[in-house]
Amino acid sequence: MKQLFINIKELLQVRDHPVDKLSGAELRELPVLKNAWMLIEDDIITDYGLMDSLPKINADKTIDTQGKIILPTWCDSHTHIVYAGNRELEFADRIKGLSYQEIANRGGGILNSAKTLQETSEEEVYKQSAKRLEEVMKLGTGAVEIKSGYGLTQEGELKMLRVIKKLKQHYDIPIKATFLGAHAIPKEYKERPGAYMDLVIEEILPQVAQEKLAQYIDIFCEKGYFSVEDTHKLLAAASKFGLKPKIHVNQFNAIGGIQAGIKHNALSVDHLEVMRPEDIESLKGTGTMPVALPCCSLFLSIPYTPAREMLNAGLPLALASDFNPGSSPSGNMNLVVSLACIKMKMTPEEAINAATVNAAYAMELSKTHGSISRGKKANFILTKEIPSYTFLPYAFGTNSIESVFINGKMLV
Ligand code: NIG
Ligand code: FE
Repeated sequence: MKQLFINIKELLQVRDHPVDKLSGAELRELPVLKNAWMLIEDDIITDYGLMDSLPKINADKTIDTQGKIILPTWCDSHTHIVYAGNRELEFADRIKGLSYQEIANRGGGILNSAKTLQETSEEEVYKQSAKRLEEVMKLGTGAVEIKSGYGLTQEGELKMLRVIKKLKQHYDIPIKATFLGAHAIPKEYKERPGAYMDLVIEEILPQVAQEKLAQYIDIFCEKGYFSVEDTHKLLAAASKFGLKPKIHVNQFNAIGGIQAGIKHNALSVDHLEVMRPEDIESLKGTGTMPVALPCCSLFLSIPYTPAREMLNAGLPLALASDFNPGSSPSGNMNLVVSLACIKMKMTPEEAINAATVNAAYAMELSKTHGSISRGKKANFILTKEIPSYTFLPYAFGTNSIESVFINGKMLV
């Protein structure tokens, strides 16, 4: 079916020659066609141009988008959307003065979510997670990565990854699965963390690989969680199964996780709230995408990723939601983009590039997603009537989205 969109006030992120990623000053430029048209055929964008030179097109349906903006759907390259229950009581405890680490030390945090996950049936986990996925799709997310990591036993981790597989079968957006067995050390292994690493590497990982349940490997490389040495060991083992790293590093402490990721050709290194000069230096000239998670900084009141320093140093940067029950119970990419502007001093152009083109790179989706380009998937956001694209991050907390199209079909 041919659908023609006409009178588009701004057609954003239009690229005749799509790029894989944008670095440094390249992010400042966001290509826009003003007063444009766009043609999609079934699930593919086939053409676009200016209204002045609209050719005769025999479309099955013509949509007049007067005053509205079209942009590619957000790509969310870092989420933990699959989980059971919530942690709103810990939220209240933090307001009363406990820190995220203090809550974790007394058995809350990730271990709390792991307990709930283990006690919840696969169907129920699926039901709760599907609801969240539908919610973020309506907020404009058109591709998503989802991690395991609240199982922390062979059974629990496989349960989570099977839920992700089922989401892939039921929903029309690309979903990438990441195995995060090394998310926290379970209580039973507190005195012998090495034995848990052995379980992850020798038992769970081979099973995950055999059942082809994940494309990527992740580890929480952080004081009190997993060391740089653990990270090397796990990433080396995972690479034998073809799993590329996308890892949690530099959230509270800079301990060398970035360098470990780069050594194993990580697709991305994520969080980066604490960055030393040598961390920025190490990322230069690599294929590893740094990923910032501003909703986590907001929710935990921790520093924001120093985006300006990183972009000024010529690095690329992607933005993601980190949607999870403990540090970011929101998967709203519109808020992520707003926070990047407000708190990280990224320009609207930089933030939108980081949440589309660069975020697609962080999920190896550059060929099909991340921009309005001929031949790419017809996954895009149609806004309400708004004055300009800058209004999107400016009007934070306002839903400026009228509808979302996935593979050429409007979400209802
Ligand atoms: O990305 N930092 C590690 N993992 C998650 C939070 C997990 C949780 O608190 O449940 C994150 O912030
Ligand atoms: Fe995370």
